[in-house]
Amino acid sequence: MKFFADTADIADIKDLAATGLLDGVTTNPTLIAKSGRDFIEVTREICALTDGPVSAEVVALDHPTMMKEAEILRKIASNVCIKVPLTIDGLKTCKALTSEGTMVNVTLCFSANQALLAAKAGATFVSPFVGRHDDNGFDGMQLISDIRLIYDNYAFDTEILVASVRHGVHVLEAAKIGADVMTAPPAVIKGLFKHILTDKGIEGFLADWAKTGQAIG
Ligand code: E4P
Repeated sequence: MKFFADTADIADIKDLAATGLLDGVTTNPTLIAKSGRDFIEVTREICALTDGPVSAEVVALDHPTMMKEAEILRKIASNVCIKVPLTIDGLKTCKALTSEGTMVNVTLCFSANQALLAAKAGATFVSPFVGRHDDNGFDGMQLISDIRLIYDNYAFDTEILVASVRHGVHVLEAAKIGADVMTAPPAVIKGLFKHILTDKGIEGFLADWAKTGQAIG
């Protein structure tokens, strides 16, 4: 499963890139606002930190304006992936852009039928939001299973990008289902390293090592 960082924070992206775990980045208008940076400028900087796809979201709601915005965004770097909302205009834009060879991430997916539409429109990625789905009394992981089943039934190439990931259990369940990608805030990705027994083990080994009075090197 590929790991994308869901952030526009340059320091966090650099930090994760150094672990070798970073396969791409996703941003959205909220994350850009949080960064306090110019959209184009910060996207260019992010694109230089990873070879993987960097999702940059259009903000127009109509197809012609989405295409104009996408034109500006895709000039930033060759690894820009245009993010469009799961609407009729969003999917028209998806179809047009992917037909020209531009990567598209169809975002704000909350049903398996919507995911089916995104795949038929040729999406590179579809982003079902599991956390927001759970928050509203639905079963986010059931949504991922349903999309996996449908995509496998028809051998769609669209990758399932599990989004709105809130904790390690979402990551584990997504991996068990066979989702292609997950995008999570850096803190959630870093949380995957943590285990109480790892910490205790290090503590014990270091205490015993101190008794030897030795040093390496
Ligand atoms: C995905 O691409 C979105 O940016 C993101 O995962 C949304 O997550 P949230 O529900 O935590 O805002």
